[in-house]
Amino acid sequence: MIDLSTEYMGLDLKNPIVVSSSPLTESVQSIQRLEEAGAAAVVLPSIFEEQLTLESNALDSDLSRGTESFAESLSFFPAYESYRQGHETYLNHIRSAKTAVGIPVLASLNGATAGGWVSFAREIEQAGADALELNTYSLPTDPRVASAEIEDGIVELVRQVKASTKIPIAVKLSPQYTSIPNLAARLDQVGASALVLFNRFYQPDFDIEGLNVTPKLALSRPEELLLRLHWTAILYGTLRAELAVTGGVHTAQDVLKSIMAGAQVAMMTSALLVNGIPYLSTVQSDLLRWMEEHEYESIWQMRGSLSRQSIPNPAAFERGNYIKTLSSYTLRQTA
Ligand SMILES: Cc1cc2nc3c(=O)[nH]c(=O)nc-3n(C[C@H](O)[C@H](O)[C@H](O)COP(=O)(O)O)c2cc1C
Repeated sequence: MIDLSTEYMGLDLKNPIVVSSSPLTESVQSIQRLEEAGAAAVVLPSIFEEQLTLESNALDSDLSRGTESFAESLSFFPAYESYRQGHETYLNHIRSAKTAVGIPVLASLNGATAGGWVSFAREIEQAGADALELNTYSLPTDPRVASAEIEDGIVELVRQVKASTKIPIAVKLSPQYTSIPNLAARLDQVGASALVLFNRFYQPDFDIEGLNVTPKLALSRPEELLLRLHWTAILYGTLRAELAVTGGVHTAQDVLKSIMAGAQVAMMTSALLVNGIPYLSTVQSDLLRWMEEHEYESIWQMRGSLSRQSIPNPAAFERGNYIKTLSSYTLRQTA
């Protein structure tokens, strides 16, 4: 009997496949279907810093306007509840999902700067989320802000979120940092329980007829997995924090590669958006078949077996390999 179970941030999972934050986890009905198809856990769509600060700023300004002119008129102001709609809808979604399924439900906060909004993490915990994924997607465009300052900001953000809640926190990172191992070690030190590698960079397209720049969301391609495998394999064994792979996991082989690189879990979205939710059970049976054919008994047994620490030629992950890769290219006749 092959054991597909694993553990992620202290949560016992029946297998290593987690459905990442996306519209797939927007409705309870869809989350139930994901559980039926074999998802080990789900991450809910993100609630954004902008949503949270906008709502509380609107509340503050209305309350202070009232206080200046007419203190007792506070009761005339738009009900506090109406400002809480985004918050409450999100918290209710956590509660409903937790009631409807038995698998762990992870909430997702998406923000880039430390501030009062992070206290929402406590409400997420109180609503019953098993863990929190903090997505730190940001796009620095101000030339006066140096990389170190941006990284300090992320570390401070994680520290503040960590201080707001007792549930485990995973930090979803972008790959564009000068030293990923340094940032990873700092996030580890402030108590991140896992690092989720990596955010995808959504790039707008250029409309040359309309002279416009338009948002474009392309689903991932399997090749995107390689960047994640590379960094997972390098970080594995160097941190207390666990690792999760997101981006380009499309097949059972991709799940296996993620685990062998050192991930606790592999996350999927695009492949399920393309192939439908039942595709999850195909991935799981392919996973079992591969493990059976290769005589693996458990996921634990293969974790990190292709990490930088485990392979005989760690240079495969280093500069030496860059030189070798470039020089291995042979020109074809047509060039
Ligand atoms: C339509 C769509 C919506 C998404 N929404 C979120 C989100 O709210 N928060 C988040 O952290 N990631 C979000 N993601 C990113 C996914 O969670 C995932 O990290 C990414 O798609 C890469 O994984 P994949 O290759 O399996 O698709 C979204 C992705 C898609 C396609």
